[in-house]
Amino acid sequence: MDDRIHMGAGEATLTADDDGRTPEDRAFLKQNGEALVIRLFAASKTLRLYDLNNRATQRVLAEVMESLARIMEREGRIFIRSSNDFLLLNEYRIPVEPQHYGPFEFWVGEMKKREVEAIEIGSMTSTKDIGTFLSEFAKVEPGENACSEIEQRLKAAEVESIAVTRYIERATQLTDVKRVKTDVRQESNRVYFRTVALMGNVLRTAEEKQILQVRKAKRLTQQMVDIIQGDESMLLGLASIKNFDAYTFAHCVNVCILSMLIGDRMRLEKADVARLGLAALMHDIGKTYIPATILNSTGKLTDREWELMKYHTFFGVKELSRANALREAVDSMFVAVQHHVHYNDNGYPQRTGGWKLRLFSRIVTVADYYDAMTAWRIYQKEPITPDQALLFILQNSGNIFDPFVVKVFIHAMGLYPVGTVVELDQGEIGVVTRQNGDVKLLHRPVVETVRNEGDRAVREAIDLAERDPDGNYVRTITRALHESQVDIDRRLIFLADTTSDAEQV
Ligand SMILES: [Fe+2]
Ligand SMILES: [Fe+2]
Repeated sequence: MDDRIHMGAGEATLTADDDGRTPEDRAFLKQNGEALVIRLFAASKTLRLYDLNNRATQRVLAEVMESLARIMEREGRIFIRSSNDFLLLNEYRIPVEPQHYGPFEFWVGEMKKREVEAIEIGSMTSTKDIGTFLSEFAKVEPGENACSEIEQRLKAAEVESIAVTRYIERATQLTDVKRVKTDVRQESNRVYFRTVALMGNVLRTAEEKQILQVRKAKRLTQQMVDIIQGDESMLLGLASIKNFDAYTFAHCVNVCILSMLIGDRMRLEKADVARLGLAALMHDIGKTYIPATILNSTGKLTDREWELMKYHTFFGVKELSRANALREAVDSMFVAVQHHVHYNDNGYPQRTGGWKLRLFSRIVTVADYYDAMTAWRIYQKEPITPDQALLFILQNSGNIFDPFVVKVFIHAMGLYPVGTVVELDQGEIGVVTRQNGDVKLLHRPVVETVRNEGDRAVREAIDLAERDPDGNYVRTITRALHESQVDIDRRLIFLADTTSDAEQV
């Protein structure tokens, strides 16, 4: 069975990206944008080994030219922009199949290092111009002046058909930060708790054997994709609070959020990220068939009980087959059966008959383990901090987990995920509220400290990427703590209604 993500014809309503493009336009840009990025990558690598006139170089450059001509003919322009770790072709965000992640990561990284936001290629371009551009681009050392140096080199080499634009921080965005932040918090809270409530209903109705409201769940996951594509920090923060009363339901929502984050960072199409979210949300739905005495048992299960427990995978399919939108539930059925199958074929149920472990299932396995491990009240005897859970996942990469999924997950979560309680080098205790985006800053997120002044809670945001005039980092994390070890309430930071009286410093 092919485990690539397919787009069914009926998914058109899901893919409306409000950019005025038809599904055919988007399919064209996806296919040709992906090919262009891969070919530019191949050409850039070849030019490191051979000169411009070499036959191998000429061959890869001819392929680049072919892609450019095709795009130019239909679109009339070629504008490649990097934004939030994605590449956009003529403002269309190019989704990427996992096997092509490398070339995209390469270009996003190389452009970022040279502060190049966009590359524009004109219709009069030539093989020589492209070749010269790629080799000059590679020769320029990363840094602040890199972009203007590229411009100068292009001018000196008389390349007029290609222009680069330097990344500029947009002042307009900054003025709105505060308002946007509040909106994101409220919107994240609204969607998160609605989905938790829905899962409460779904799991209850499963017990009462009513019909599963797949479409309603789908609407909520679509709203979550919108949030994740904008600013996921608040949703991750909510997912890090594990001591809600309704944790059983929240677990499904957390796995859904984490899976969609992975899917989004893999650059899957928006509609596919939503499908993944829905499947993740339903992964444990078969547990409604398992008696509560077994589910909530804190002691060791008997062999018989354990065998029954393992059956929640098949019960999931049974439950989903009763859904009111069967076609929408197909991905969920695969995930329900496969989410406990390990990458190395251990786990359960046993893989027989040659069926493939699907990408959605491999993603949900990582998300499921991470959420379960960090919710120690339910599943663990000892408290585990998020960074320890990540370490476990990293140590079992290629064994329990798909290494590619692990890599994307860790890039997205940072070494100290949002919600981690940390101690800083000057003794302050804080909570990680957002990542700094850059791979080199995985251990330097933004931390918020909360201290009480009288009855008021005063919050301070500390960016650990900040350096002093000598170039040394101002603050550093010394260790992660478990929430049971400190007196800090993450609810204060991530819940909408309790934050209104906290003052931002
Ligand atoms: Fe499960
Ligand atoms: Fe689970």
